[in-house]
Amino acid sequence: MRDRIAMYNDNTLKIGIFGANCSSGRSATKVPERWSATWPECLRLARLADEAGLDFMLPIARWKGYGGATEFHGHSLETITWAVGLLGATRHMTVFGTVHAPLFHPLIAAKELVTADHVGEGRLGLNLVVGWNEGEFEMFGVTQREHDARYDYAQEWLDAVKQAWAEPGHFDFDGQFLKLKGVRAYPKPYGAVRPIIMNAGSSAVGQAFALRNCDAFFVATSGSRTSLEGNAQKVAEIKSQAQSFGRDIEVFTVGQVICRKSQQEADDYYRHAIIDNADWGAIDGMLANKSITPQTIPPEEYEQKRRYFASHAVGGYPFVGTPDKVADELDAISKAGVRGIALSFVNYLDELPYFCDEVLPRLVRRGARADEPGSGRV
Ligand SMILES: Cc1cc2nc3c(=O)[nH]c(=O)nc-3n(C[C@H](O)[C@H](O)[C@H](O)COP(=O)(O)O)c2cc1C
Repeated sequence: MRDRIAMYNDNTLKIGIFGANCSSGRSATKVPERWSATWPECLRLARLADEAGLDFMLPIARWKGYGGATEFHGHSLETITWAVGLLGATRHMTVFGTVHAPLFHPLIAAKELVTADHVGEGRLGLNLVVGWNEGEFEMFGVTQREHDARYDYAQEWLDAVKQAWAEPGHFDFDGQFLKLKGVRAYPKPYGAVRPIIMNAGSSAVGQAFALRNCDAFFVATSGSRTSLEGNAQKVAEIKSQAQSFGRDIEVFTVGQVICRKSQQEADDYYRHAIIDNADWGAIDGMLANKSITPQTIPPEEYEQKRRYFASHAVGGYPFVGTPDKVADELDAISKAGVRGIALSFVNYLDELPYFCDEVLPRLVRRGARADEPGSGRV
Protein backbone atom coordinates (compact mmCIF):
# COMPACT_ATOMS: atom_id res chain seq x y z
CA MET A 1 0.00 0.00 0.00
CA ARG A 2 2.90 2.36 0.80
CA ASP A 3 4.19 2.16 -2.77
CA ARG A 4 0.74 2.87 -4.17
CA ILE A 5 0.30 5.91 -1.92
CA ALA A 6 3.80 7.12 -2.90
CA MET A 7 2.71 6.69 -6.55
CA TYR A 8 5.84 4.52 -6.91
CA ASN A 9 8.29 7.44 -6.60
CA ASP A 10 10.16 9.66 -4.14
CA ASN A 11 8.73 13.02 -5.17
CA THR A 12 7.90 14.91 -1.98
CA LEU A 13 5.32 17.03 -3.79
CA LYS A 14 3.20 14.93 -6.14
CA ILE A 15 2.01 16.88 -9.15
CA GLY A 16 -0.95 15.82 -11.24
CA ILE A 17 -3.28 17.09 -13.93
CA PHE A 18 -6.85 17.89 -12.95
CA GLY A 19 -10.01 17.91 -15.06
CA ALA A 20 -8.58 17.22 -18.53
CA ASN A 21 -11.45 14.83 -19.39
CA CYS A 22 -13.96 17.73 -19.42
CA SER A 23 -14.33 20.45 -22.02
CA SER A 24 -12.79 23.72 -20.77
CA GLY A 25 -11.04 21.76 -18.00
CA ARG A 26 -11.10 23.98 -14.92
CA SER A 27 -11.36 27.33 -16.72
CA ALA A 28 -14.81 28.73 -17.44
CA THR A 29 -13.52 30.87 -20.30
CA LYS A 30 -14.59 31.77 -23.81
CA VAL A 31 -11.06 32.13 -25.23
CA PRO A 32 -10.85 30.09 -28.45
CA GLU A 33 -7.81 28.10 -27.26
CA ARG A 34 -9.82 26.69 -24.31
CA TRP A 35 -9.54 22.94 -23.74
CA SER A 36 -11.74 20.63 -25.87
CA ALA A 37 -11.01 17.38 -24.01
CA THR A 38 -11.03 15.18 -27.10
CA TRP A 39 -9.55 11.71 -26.74
CA PRO A 40 -6.48 12.37 -28.96
CA GLU A 41 -5.67 15.45 -26.85
CA CYS A 42 -6.08 13.53 -23.58
CA LEU A 43 -3.83 10.79 -24.90
CA ARG A 44 -1.10 13.22 -26.00
CA LEU A 45 -1.35 15.04 -22.69
CA ALA A 46 -1.03 11.84 -20.63
CA ARG A 47 2.00 10.68 -22.60
CA LEU A 48 3.66 14.07 -22.26
CA ALA A 49 2.95 14.21 -18.51
CA ASP A 50 4.12 10.63 -17.98
CA GLU A 51 7.38 11.26 -19.82
CA ALA A 52 7.97 14.48 -17.87
CA GLY A 53 7.59 12.55 -14.62
CA LEU A 54 4.26 13.97 -13.41
CA ASP A 55 2.63 11.71 -10.86
CA PHE A 56 -1.07 11.44 -11.59
CA MET A 57 -4.12 12.45 -13.60
CA LEU A 58 -7.39 13.20 -11.84
CA PRO A 59 -10.53 13.47 -13.97
CA ILE A 60 -13.91 14.95 -13.02
CA ALA A 61 -16.99 12.74 -13.12
CA ARG A 62 -19.39 15.08 -14.89
CA TRP A 63 -22.52 13.90 -16.65
CA LYS A 64 -24.06 17.14 -17.83
CA GLY A 65 -22.65 20.55 -18.77
CA TYR A 66 -23.37 23.78 -16.93
CA GLY A 67 -24.57 25.78 -19.93
CA GLY A 68 -23.25 29.23 -20.77
CA ALA A 69 -21.86 30.34 -24.13
CA THR A 70 -19.30 27.51 -24.09
CA GLU A 71 -21.55 24.81 -22.60
CA PHE A 72 -18.91 24.40 -19.88
CA HIS A 73 -18.18 20.69 -19.22
CA GLY A 74 -20.79 19.83 -21.88
CA HIS A 75 -18.36 17.34 -23.44
CA SER A 76 -16.86 14.96 -20.89
CA LEU A 77 -15.21 11.57 -21.21
CA GLU A 78 -16.38 8.96 -18.69
CA THR A 79 -13.65 8.61 -16.13
CA ILE A 80 -13.09 4.87 -15.64
CA THR A 81 -13.02 4.08 -19.35
CA TRP A 82 -10.80 7.18 -19.83
CA ALA A 83 -8.46 5.90 -17.11
CA VAL A 84 -8.23 2.48 -18.77
CA GLY A 85 -7.16 4.08 -22.05
CA LEU A 86 -4.57 6.27 -20.35
CA LEU A 87 -3.20 3.52 -18.11
CA GLY A 88 -2.66 1.40 -21.21
CA ALA A 89 -0.74 4.25 -22.87
CA THR A 90 1.47 5.31 -19.94
CA ARG A 91 4.12 3.60 -17.80
CA HIS A 92 4.53 5.43 -14.51
CA MET A 93 1.70 7.70 -13.53
CA THR A 94 -1.30 6.93 -11.38
CA VAL A 95 -4.63 7.59 -13.11
CA PHE A 96 -7.78 8.08 -11.08
CA GLY A 97 -11.29 7.03 -12.00
CA THR A 98 -14.01 9.08 -10.30
CA VAL A 99 -17.17 7.28 -9.26
CA HIS A 100 -20.49 8.67 -8.02
CA ALA A 101 -21.46 6.08 -5.41
CA PRO A 102 -25.25 6.52 -5.86
CA LEU A 103 -25.02 6.04 -9.64
CA PHE A 104 -22.84 2.91 -9.87
CA HIS A 105 -23.68 -0.48 -8.42
CA PRO A 106 -20.74 -1.22 -6.08
CA LEU A 107 -19.98 -4.62 -7.57
CA ILE A 108 -19.95 -3.26 -11.11
CA ALA A 109 -17.68 -0.43 -9.97
CA ALA A 110 -15.43 -2.86 -8.05
CA LYS A 111 -14.98 -5.01 -11.15
CA GLU A 112 -14.44 -2.08 -13.53
CA LEU A 113 -11.86 -0.59 -11.19
CA VAL A 114 -10.04 -3.90 -10.80
CA THR A 115 -9.96 -4.28 -14.56
CA ALA A 116 -8.47 -0.80 -14.92
CA ASP A 117 -6.01 -1.57 -12.14
CA HIS A 118 -4.77 -4.67 -13.97
CA VAL A 119 -4.36 -2.66 -17.18
CA GLY A 120 -2.28 -0.14 -15.22
CA GLU A 121 -0.42 -2.79 -13.18
CA GLY A 122 -1.34 -1.17 -9.88
CA ARG A 123 -1.55 2.46 -11.01
CA LEU A 124 -5.31 3.03 -10.71
CA GLY A 125 -6.70 5.37 -8.07
CA LEU A 126 -10.33 5.84 -7.02
CA ASN A 127 -11.94 9.21 -6.33
CA LEU A 128 -15.20 8.43 -4.59
CA VAL A 129 -17.80 11.19 -4.75
CA VAL A 130 -21.39 11.31 -3.50
CA GLY A 131 -22.59 14.01 -5.91
CA TRP A 132 -23.84 17.53 -5.37
CA ASN A 133 -25.30 18.49 -8.72
CA GLU A 134 -29.11 18.05 -8.61
CA GLY A 135 -29.54 18.31 -12.37
CA GLU A 136 -27.29 15.31 -12.94
CA PHE A 137 -29.25 13.14 -10.58
CA GLU A 138 -32.57 14.15 -12.16
CA MET A 139 -31.12 13.16 -15.51
CA PHE A 140 -30.60 9.62 -14.17
CA GLY A 141 -34.01 9.56 -12.48
CA VAL A 142 -32.21 9.14 -9.15
CA THR A 143 -33.31 11.12 -6.11
CA GLN A 144 -30.48 12.67 -4.12
CA ARG A 145 -30.45 11.69 -0.47
CA GLU A 146 -30.33 14.40 2.16
CA HIS A 147 -26.73 15.65 2.42
CA ASP A 148 -25.34 13.68 5.36
CA ALA A 149 -27.18 10.48 4.39
CA ARG A 150 -25.24 10.51 1.10
CA TYR A 151 -22.13 9.73 3.11
CA ASP A 152 -23.93 6.97 5.09
CA TYR A 153 -24.70 5.34 1.78
CA ALA A 154 -21.16 5.93 0.50
CA GLN A 155 -19.79 4.22 3.61
CA GLU A 156 -21.72 1.04 2.87
CA TRP A 157 -20.89 1.29 -0.81
CA LEU A 158 -17.17 1.54 -0.08
CA ASP A 159 -17.28 -1.23 2.54
CA ALA A 160 -18.85 -3.50 -0.08
CA VAL A 161 -16.26 -2.53 -2.70
CA LYS A 162 -13.33 -3.05 -0.33
CA GLN A 163 -14.74 -6.41 0.73
CA ALA A 164 -15.14 -7.49 -2.90
CA TRP A 165 -11.51 -6.51 -3.49
CA ALA A 166 -10.19 -8.35 -0.44
CA GLU A 167 -12.43 -11.23 0.54
CA PRO A 168 -11.57 -14.68 -0.82
CA GLY A 169 -14.43 -17.04 -1.55
CA HIS A 170 -18.06 -15.93 -1.14
CA PHE A 171 -19.61 -13.40 1.15
CA ASP A 172 -23.00 -11.88 1.91
CA PHE A 173 -23.32 -8.17 2.59
CA ASP A 174 -26.23 -7.20 4.78
CA GLY A 175 -26.28 -3.43 5.15
CA GLN A 176 -28.92 -0.79 5.71
CA PHE A 177 -28.96 0.09 2.00
CA LEU A 178 -27.25 -2.83 0.28
CA LYS A 179 -28.18 -6.50 0.53
CA LEU A 180 -25.80 -8.59 -1.55
CA LYS A 181 -25.91 -12.38 -1.56
CA GLY A 182 -23.19 -14.89 -2.45
CA VAL A 183 -20.78 -12.25 -3.73
CA ARG A 184 -17.77 -13.56 -5.62
CA ALA A 185 -15.31 -11.13 -7.13
CA TYR A 186 -12.20 -12.20 -9.01
CA PRO A 187 -9.59 -11.18 -9.89
CA LYS A 188 -8.51 -9.12 -6.91
CA PRO A 189 -6.65 -5.83 -7.50
CA TYR A 190 -3.18 -6.02 -9.04
CA GLY A 191 -0.63 -7.52 -6.62
CA ALA A 192 -3.46 -8.11 -4.10
CA VAL A 193 -3.17 -4.50 -2.86
CA ARG A 194 -6.20 -2.24 -3.25
CA PRO A 195 -6.11 0.98 -5.31
CA ILE A 196 -5.49 4.24 -3.48
CA ILE A 197 -8.69 6.02 -2.58
CA MET A 198 -9.30 9.76 -2.37
CA ASN A 199 -12.20 12.03 -1.56
CA ALA A 200 -12.69 15.80 -1.48
CA GLY A 201 -15.75 16.38 0.69
CA SER A 202 -15.76 19.92 2.02
CA SER A 203 -18.49 19.56 4.66
CA ALA A 204 -17.69 18.24 8.14
CA VAL A 205 -19.42 14.96 7.28
CA GLY A 206 -17.59 14.72 3.95
CA GLN A 207 -14.25 15.37 5.62
CA ALA A 208 -14.93 12.79 8.34
CA PHE A 209 -15.77 10.27 5.62
CA ALA A 210 -12.47 10.96 3.88
CA LEU A 211 -10.47 10.70 7.07
CA ARG A 212 -12.09 7.38 8.02
CA ASN A 213 -11.77 5.75 4.62
CA CYS A 214 -9.32 7.35 2.26
CA ASP A 215 -5.59 7.57 1.68
CA ALA A 216 -5.68 11.07 0.22
CA PHE A 217 -7.91 13.99 1.13
CA PHE A 218 -8.19 16.86 -1.33
CA VAL A 219 -8.93 20.26 0.10
CA ALA A 220 -10.17 22.99 -2.18
CA THR A 221 -7.99 26.06 -2.23
CA SER A 222 -8.55 29.26 -0.34
CA GLY A 223 -6.94 32.69 -0.40
CA SER A 224 -4.39 31.64 2.20
CA ARG A 225 -3.36 28.52 0.34
CA THR A 226 0.18 29.63 -0.36
CA SER A 227 0.84 31.02 3.09
CA LEU A 228 3.19 28.55 4.71
CA GLU A 229 1.68 28.96 8.16
CA GLY A 230 -1.94 28.79 6.93
CA ASN A 231 -1.25 25.60 5.02
CA ALA A 232 0.87 23.98 7.69
CA GLN A 233 -1.89 24.61 10.21
CA LYS A 234 -4.55 23.13 7.91
CA VAL A 235 -2.43 20.05 7.20
CA ALA A 236 -1.69 19.55 10.91
CA GLU A 237 -5.40 19.87 11.75
CA ILE A 238 -6.43 17.30 9.16
CA LYS A 239 -3.67 14.86 10.11
CA SER A 240 -4.47 15.08 13.80
CA GLN A 241 -8.18 14.53 13.13
CA ALA A 242 -7.29 11.49 11.02
CA GLN A 243 -5.20 10.18 13.90
CA SER A 244 -8.25 10.37 16.14
CA PHE A 245 -9.71 7.72 13.78
CA GLY A 246 -6.42 5.81 14.07
CA ARG A 247 -5.50 6.69 10.50
CA ASP A 248 -2.80 8.46 8.56
CA ILE A 249 -3.89 10.53 5.57
CA GLU A 250 -2.13 12.61 2.93
CA VAL A 251 -3.42 16.10 2.16
CA PHE A 252 -3.65 17.25 -1.45
CA THR A 253 -5.00 20.40 -3.06
CA VAL A 254 -5.85 21.84 -6.48
CA GLY A 255 -4.71 24.87 -8.45
CA GLN A 256 -4.62 26.55 -11.82
CA VAL A 257 -1.31 27.49 -13.47
CA ILE A 258 -0.63 30.38 -15.81
CA CYS A 259 3.15 30.46 -16.09
CA ARG A 260 4.93 32.87 -18.46
CA LYS A 261 8.41 34.39 -18.91
CA SER A 262 7.41 37.64 -17.22
CA GLN A 263 4.96 38.40 -14.42
CA GLN A 264 3.27 40.99 -16.65
CA GLU A 265 2.66 38.44 -19.39
CA ALA A 266 1.19 35.95 -16.91
CA ASP A 267 -1.02 38.58 -15.24
CA ASP A 268 -2.25 39.84 -18.60
CA TYR A 269 -3.21 36.37 -19.77
CA TYR A 270 -4.91 35.58 -16.46
CA ARG A 271 -7.02 38.72 -16.77
CA HIS A 272 -7.75 38.07 -20.44
CA ALA A 273 -8.73 34.38 -20.10
CA ILE A 274 -10.20 34.12 -16.63
CA ILE A 275 -11.80 37.52 -16.04
CA ASP A 276 -12.39 39.47 -19.28
CA ASN A 277 -13.46 36.36 -21.21
CA ALA A 278 -15.11 34.46 -18.36
CA ASP A 279 -18.15 32.46 -19.41
CA TRP A 280 -20.47 34.12 -16.91
CA GLY A 281 -23.44 32.05 -18.10
CA ALA A 282 -21.56 28.86 -17.11
CA ILE A 283 -20.57 30.35 -13.77
CA ASP A 284 -24.21 31.32 -13.11
CA GLY A 285 -25.16 27.72 -14.02
CA MET A 286 -22.67 26.26 -11.54
CA LEU A 287 -23.81 28.60 -8.78
CA ALA A 288 -27.47 27.81 -9.53
CA ASN A 289 -26.63 24.12 -8.95
CA LYS A 290 -25.68 25.14 -5.43
CA SER A 291 -28.92 27.17 -5.16
CA ILE A 292 -26.98 30.43 -5.29
CA THR A 293 -28.86 32.88 -7.55
CA PRO A 294 -29.61 36.64 -7.58
CA GLN A 295 -32.99 35.61 -6.18
CA THR A 296 -31.61 33.67 -3.19
CA ILE A 297 -28.94 36.14 -2.04
CA PRO A 298 -28.57 39.96 -2.24
CA PRO A 299 -27.30 41.22 -5.64
CA GLU A 300 -23.98 42.64 -4.33
CA GLU A 301 -23.21 39.38 -2.54
CA TYR A 302 -24.12 37.47 -5.70
CA GLU A 303 -21.76 39.59 -7.80
CA GLN A 304 -18.96 39.01 -5.28
CA LYS A 305 -19.50 35.23 -5.27
CA ARG A 306 -19.56 35.12 -9.04
CA ARG A 307 -16.22 36.96 -9.26
CA TYR A 308 -14.65 34.75 -6.61
CA PHE A 309 -15.97 31.65 -8.36
CA ALA A 310 -14.50 32.70 -11.72
CA SER A 311 -11.13 33.74 -10.30
CA HIS A 312 -10.52 31.08 -7.61
CA ALA A 313 -13.17 28.44 -7.08
CA VAL A 314 -13.46 26.77 -10.49
CA GLY A 315 -9.76 26.18 -11.05
CA GLY A 316 -8.56 26.48 -7.47
CA TYR A 317 -5.78 28.78 -6.28
CA PRO A 318 -4.29 30.60 -9.30
CA PHE A 319 -0.51 30.14 -9.59
CA VAL A 320 0.12 33.06 -11.93
CA GLY A 321 3.62 34.26 -12.71
CA THR A 322 7.15 33.48 -13.77
CA PRO A 323 8.66 29.98 -13.34
CA ASP A 324 10.45 31.24 -10.21
CA LYS A 325 7.26 32.54 -8.64
CA VAL A 326 5.21 29.44 -9.48
CA ALA A 327 8.00 27.17 -8.20
CA ASP A 328 8.31 29.21 -4.99
CA GLU A 329 4.58 28.97 -4.33
CA LEU A 330 4.45 25.24 -5.04
CA ASP A 331 7.51 24.71 -2.87
CA ALA A 332 5.80 26.65 -0.07
CA ILE A 333 2.79 24.34 -0.07
CA SER A 334 5.12 21.34 -0.17
CA LYS A 335 7.08 22.64 2.83
CA ALA A 336 3.78 23.11 4.66
CA GLY A 337 3.23 19.36 4.39
CA VAL A 338 0.76 19.28 1.49
CA ARG A 339 1.59 16.01 -0.24
CA GLY A 340 0.40 16.87 -3.73
CA ILE A 341 -1.51 19.14 -6.05
CA ALA A 342 -3.73 18.59 -9.05
CA LEU A 343 -3.18 21.36 -11.57
CA SER A 344 -5.11 22.67 -14.52
CA PHE A 345 -4.14 24.92 -17.41
CA VAL A 346 -6.35 26.89 -19.83
CA ASN A 347 -4.96 24.70 -22.62
CA TYR A 348 -3.10 21.81 -21.01
CA LEU A 349 -1.20 20.72 -24.12
CA ASP A 350 -0.04 24.20 -25.08
CA GLU A 351 1.08 25.11 -21.57
CA LEU A 352 2.37 21.91 -19.96
CA PRO A 353 5.72 21.74 -21.83
CA TYR A 354 6.80 25.18 -20.50
CA PHE A 355 5.72 24.21 -16.98
CA CYS A 356 7.66 20.93 -17.17
CA ASP A 357 10.77 22.54 -18.70
CA GLU A 358 10.92 25.51 -16.36
CA VAL A 359 9.05 24.80 -13.12
CA LEU A 360 9.87 21.11 -12.52
CA PRO A 361 13.69 21.60 -12.49
CA ARG A 362 13.26 24.51 -10.06
CA LEU A 363 11.24 22.24 -7.79
CA VAL A 364 14.05 19.67 -7.96
CA ARG A 365 16.55 22.38 -6.93
CA ARG A 366 14.26 23.38 -4.04
CA GLY A 367 14.07 19.75 -2.89
CA ALA A 368 10.35 19.27 -3.59
CA ARG A 369 10.85 16.79 -6.44
CA ALA A 370 13.26 13.94 -7.21
CA ASP A 371 16.03 14.52 -9.78
CA GLU A 372 15.09 13.27 -13.19
CA PRO A 373 11.76 12.14 -14.54
CA GLY A 374 11.54 8.54 -13.48
CA SER A 375 14.59 8.61 -11.20
CA GLY A 376 12.53 8.62 -8.03
CA ARG A 377 10.77 5.40 -8.93
CA VAL A 378 10.91 2.65 -6.35
C1 LIG B 1 -10.24 17.81 -6.17
C2 LIG B 1 -11.73 17.65 -6.20
C3 LIG B 1 -12.30 16.74 -7.07
C4 LIG B 1 -13.68 16.57 -7.13
N1 LIG B 1 -14.21 15.74 -8.06
C5 LIG B 1 -15.55 15.68 -8.20
C6 LIG B 1 -16.13 14.95 -9.27
O1 LIG B 1 -15.42 14.39 -10.09
N2 LIG B 1 -17.48 14.89 -9.37
C7 LIG B 1 -18.30 15.51 -8.46
O2 LIG B 1 -19.52 15.43 -8.60
N3 LIG B 1 -17.78 16.21 -7.43
C8 LIG B 1 -16.43 16.33 -7.30
N4 LIG B 1 -15.89 17.08 -6.29
C9 LIG B 1 -16.79 17.63 -5.25
C10 LIG B 1 -16.60 16.89 -3.91
O3 LIG B 1 -16.62 15.48 -4.07
C11 LIG B 1 -17.68 17.28 -2.88
O4 LIG B 1 -18.95 16.84 -3.29
C12 LIG B 1 -17.75 18.76 -2.68
O5 LIG B 1 -16.48 19.22 -2.26
C13 LIG B 1 -18.79 19.12 -1.62
O6 LIG B 1 -18.47 18.52 -0.37
P1 LIG B 1 -19.55 17.76 0.51
O7 LIG B 1 -20.02 16.58 -0.28
O8 LIG B 1 -18.82 17.38 1.77
O9 LIG B 1 -20.67 18.72 0.77
C14 LIG B 1 -14.52 17.31 -6.25
C15 LIG B 1 -13.94 18.26 -5.39
C16 LIG B 1 -12.57 18.46 -5.39
C17 LIG B 1 -11.98 19.52 -4.47
